[in-house]
Amino acid sequence: MNPVPPRPARRLAGLGVSPIRRISDGAPKDAIPLGLGEPTWELHPTAREALARTTGVLGYGPQAGLVELRSAIAARLGRGPDEVLVTIGTQEGLFDVAQAYLNPGDEALVPDPGFVGYLGVVALTGATPVPYRLATDDRFRLDAAEFARTLDAHPKARLAIVGHPGNPTGGGATAESLRAVAELCQARGVLLVSDEVYRDLHFGAPTPSLLDVSNYGFVLGSTSKGFGAPGLRVGWVLGDAEALWPLRVVHGFAVTSAALPSQRAALALFENYDDAVEHSRRELALRYTALERAFATELGRAVSPPDGSFYHFLELPEAAWDDPFAFCLRLRDEAKVVLIPGLAFGEAGRRHARLSFAAQPEQIAEGVRRYARFVEGL
Ligand SMILES: Cc1ncc(COP(=O)(O)O)c(C=O)c1O
Repeated sequence: MNPVPPRPARRLAGLGVSPIRRISDGAPKDAIPLGLGEPTWELHPTAREALARTTGVLGYGPQAGLVELRSAIAARLGRGPDEVLVTIGTQEGLFDVAQAYLNPGDEALVPDPGFVGYLGVVALTGATPVPYRLATDDRFRLDAAEFARTLDAHPKARLAIVGHPGNPTGGGATAESLRAVAELCQARGVLLVSDEVYRDLHFGAPTPSLLDVSNYGFVLGSTSKGFGAPGLRVGWVLGDAEALWPLRVVHGFAVTSAALPSQRAALALFENYDDAVEHSRRELALRYTALERAFATELGRAVSPPDGSFYHFLELPEAAWDDPFAFCLRLRDEAKVVLIPGLAFGEAGRRHARLSFAAQPEQIAEGVRRYARFVEGL
């Protein structure tokens, strides 16, 4: 009898391992990793101490998260603990929102270029992601007029994601554009999801939060970037308590709860918020200085810092534009430096590659040097 292989669900069609992982995981051992958006600085001592205190009985804890942690997050963001759900990173928050609010056949607006995770969480519900273009300035900021045009053309949209500062560009959003987008979504009954995971990693003044301009929608964040602790896998969704309820149902069935030791470490970070974020920003500044220097010496070019995040969206030479994946694979395997093709984040990223300067300063210097040599030799 021939065994019949199990057939994956149809909604998985076209989905695979993220292109970021595919490029990074296949890299030669001696390649310089400027691909992943993963902080490389030490966890703040307060979180390390909290983790070290984990002994004895280790229960599940409340499904929505430790009430102390929910209260700390809520207090920071000016809301109540019932308006917070603690998730396993922003990624789970995005998944929960999509599962809770999208039906097959719906559409959901996602930024182009934008974080690849948005496409997956939408597609897994049987809904269709619809890209909207960010501004075509050098920052790729939220462009309310372009957002409105896309929404007008897609009456089946039930959800829209804004990511600011965004991945892969580090571009933020102005208060005016955020307010306009929030008002539009609210008027149309489109659920607005504001991914603000990079907001604390700013160089000048912080960019506005959706919470500064509207009470509508959900705001998502995590310990992964601002606290430099992606391995804790702690995130949160903030929103109206009633609107959060469907997410809590999805969350309960998907993961039960976030890991308790991680939540305690996250609580310790919230209790030392300013110091912990300052620690990250200091580390980030060191890395940005390395990037700035390397661009000046190796490429004879100035860079400017993103509105927030550790990404530089690097314009590639014209020779790369036709097939940026092939270009980045050659760069990876021949020059031994990993960059992620901007095309992985949407068509609007075709001419760029994402350089993550979350790496160590010496890796940044060497990575840019290798990139410069490779481009010279084209
Ligand atoms: C814009 C954005 N949102 C969400 C995530 C998910 O992060 P986490 O689940 O670690 O919070 C990432 C990760 O890189 C990201 O870049």
